[in-house]
Amino acid sequence: MNEIIRLLDARCSTRAYDPTPPSDEEKRAILHAAMRAPTAGNLMLYSIVEIEDQALKDRLAVTCDDQPFIARAPWVLLFVADFQKWMDLFAACGCDELPGVPHGVTPGLGDLIMACNDALIAAQNAVVAAESLGIGSCYIGDIMELGETHAELLQLPRYTFPAALLCLGRPKVRPHRTERYERRVVHKNVYRRLTASELREVSDQLDGLYGARGTQPGITGYVQDVYARKFTADFAIEMNRSVAWWLERWVSGEPAAGTE
Ligand SMILES: Cc1cc2nc3c(=O)[nH]c(=O)nc-3n(C[C@H](O)[C@H](O)[C@H](O)COP(=O)(O)O)c2cc1C
Repeated sequence: MNEIIRLLDARCSTRAYDPTPPSDEEKRAILHAAMRAPTAGNLMLYSIVEIEDQALKDRLAVTCDDQPFIARAPWVLLFVADFQKWMDLFAACGCDELPGVPHGVTPGLGDLIMACNDALIAAQNAVVAAESLGIGSCYIGDIMELGETHAELLQLPRYTFPAALLCLGRPKVRPHRTERYERRVVHKNVYRRLTASELREVSDQLDGLYGARGTQPGITGYVQDVYARKFTADFAIEMNRSVAWWLERWVSGEPAAGTE
């Protein structure tokens, strides 16, 4: 293994931070690495919001499914999938007057997914660059929840989506490295649904690695635990409701109130 692969192998999510923030030079290097990520058409369909206001961090620690460590993260970055800036650039550069091309075109769901791809790939470059400087990080998926609240709180206009919230800081204690289940993840040439015995093989590996952590009675394995504790949990129901709201806002003809 080379140094980069060793770094990727050793990385783990950091949720307890030394309060000293990264230096300005480190921040610049991490943001530069994020912006050097591959990006569809070289368009950089994302924006990065540095969340510095403590009151805003405190609020996000609550709205992102009550995760207090967000408020204690020395540096918080929001990676916004951003087609709004391109719509604004098109308008500012007179694209509505161009002859021989359609007018009034609005971004579709393909544009949204592409912008999410861009934002997430940039975010992961930031994760790796930070790790190389001894700065840990943790994604917060719950930023997709409470869409109406987060759109207002972060002033996110219509053609945006909060693809990733990233907490960064030097680890207070070395985090525990979690194992991965690697059985049947890689397919050849085409996707193939797993057979009953392959599913058993995956489930056995999960039980071997993590056991059943659930507290609910009657849960006998990790897969059942995930079903009860994650897949059907209140936060997942809220996430799915909220993402439907973000998508509806993106595709509907109506401007979203208060955020245009
Ligand atoms: C999309 C995404 C969303 C995540 N959301 C959260 C979160 O809200 N809170 C949290 O503590 N960790 C979150 N994580 C971190 C995962 O729990 C973590 O990556 C996983 O348990 C594997 O551990 P590791 O990163 O230490 O290898 C998220 C990770 C990803 C990729």
